[in-house]
Amino acid sequence: MSDHSASNELPPITKRLYIETVGCQMNILDSEMVVAALRKSGYALTKKPEDADAILFNTCSVREHAEEKAYHNLFHLKQLKLANPQKILGVMGCMAQKDQKAIFDRTPFVDLVVGPGQLHRIPELIAKAEGGEKQQLAVSLSRRDGSTDDIKRSHETFDPLRDPEMRPTPFQAYLRIQIGCDKFCTYCIVPMTRGPEQGRAPEQIVAEARVLAEQGCKEIVLLGQTVNSYRFVHGEKTTRMSDLLHMLHEIDGIERIKFVTNYPKDMTRELLETVRDLPKCSPYLHVPAQSGSDNVLKRMKRGYTTADYYEMMDRIHEIIPDAAVSSDFIVGFCGETEEEFQMTMDMVRRCRFKNSFVFQYSVRPGTKGAEIYEDDIPEETKHRRNLDLLEVQNKISLEDNMRFLGQKVEILVEGPSKWSVRKGQTGDLRQMTGRTRCDRIVVWDGNVRQAGQLLPVQITDVYAFTMFGMVETSEVVPELLQIR
Ligand code: SAH
Ligand code: SF4
Ligand code: F3S
Repeated sequence: MSDHSASNELPPITKRLYIETVGCQMNILDSEMVVAALRKSGYALTKKPEDADAILFNTCSVREHAEEKAYHNLFHLKQLKLANPQKILGVMGCMAQKDQKAIFDRTPFVDLVVGPGQLHRIPELIAKAEGGEKQQLAVSLSRRDGSTDDIKRSHETFDPLRDPEMRPTPFQAYLRIQIGCDKFCTYCIVPMTRGPEQGRAPEQIVAEARVLAEQGCKEIVLLGQTVNSYRFVHGEKTTRMSDLLHMLHEIDGIERIKFVTNYPKDMTRELLETVRDLPKCSPYLHVPAQSGSDNVLKRMKRGYTTADYYEMMDRIHEIIPDAAVSSDFIVGFCGETEEEFQMTMDMVRRCRFKNSFVFQYSVRPGTKGAEIYEDDIPEETKHRRNLDLLEVQNKISLEDNMRFLGQKVEILVEGPSKWSVRKGQTGDLRQMTGRTRCDRIVVWDGNVRQAGQLLPVQITDVYAFTMFGMVETSEVVPELLQIR
């Protein structure tokens, strides 16, 4: 399946592509694939839309704000497109799947609308648009529009195409193991935009991981909306997440394996024991709770109670005592009382997450929640709850990081830090950044040649989101350390 051998025969660069990506890791990976595909049609990346022959927006529909921003960006490009009608302007990703033809109604100067399951068609659609065929639409079947098999097939992705240049660092890569979602939480649009849940074949995943390892990738992050629910059934044989981790663990060159996002109900003992027993598996678990109130969880149709969640936390800490757990929360969901919100605050205090992502509820037309509940929490209440929850979480994150003061942690070095880039640091000596096995961010005064190495860093100062450290020069090329 691996397509990478063809990379030796790439055509000369004749055109420029500008691509902007918002949303989750799935979208970042999708953009990487689209860039790889278009490289085969002679496109190379540019950072400026003015210089581009094709402009693509990879969009997200999870909250209204993300969609409004996408439309804003499109309107912003209207004059550029009208002045240069030969430029191709495309909308891809979840908003393309959700809004479909309506995008042409609102922004008629757009040439392509391509859903996440149809991205393999982009080179062909761009060629058509270049030939004058405007308003090309390619979307997957909606969830009521055909047999289960047909719907699934129409949402499949074309993952084997990789482009290391498009990755933030060549040493880390996302690897999709699961497409879509069948959980239908009442607030969430993802099951509509990404289609039914389907695990990819383990052989395909392993082959892709091998290609990544050959390209010098040391850390793979396995992706799925409910990644730990991963299952692949072939005849009599069922492959689960823990089996897959064992298979991937065998691959030489891969040093770290992470996986996101986890579903609380499927955090089994077997999976946790696998993470504990396989040294390459990162003891970092992102398991969104969404709310600390049973009533809210019920309205969200999350399929578990707070007692289930607390039990899961106990299980995690019993099996992997040094695990770092992080969460997502939605505040201001339909009908959320102050008392229910306080239960979420209590959950954060009790679970002491490494970090939490907090979102204000955004009603999504097309979801069950939009249909049956009223979006009745005022914006200022949502905002205040957001701030309150973050304040509690940030205090915990800081306290948690204090434990690392004076400790040595193993870092996968990603490259110069954001600060270094902003300050315009040049030369070999820079402030560098990387992550611990538990996904904690560390910066130190280092050397660009450290990029891609696994390095022991001594922690000297900590904040809620970042730790500062130092590296002893004698330790610049260490063997793999088992420091978590
Ligand atoms: N599959 C993942 C999350 C996908 S979306 C999971 O099940 O955990 C990422 C996060 O966005 C969710 O965890 C949720 O906290 C948030 N989110 C989803 N829909 C939302 C909405 N309508 N309004 C606000 N936040 C939302
Ligand atoms: Fe959305 Fe729920 Fe599926 Fe996550 S599990 S993608 S929140 S429907
Ligand atoms: Fe957004 Fe689609 Fe991801 S809606 S969060 S880009 S799956």
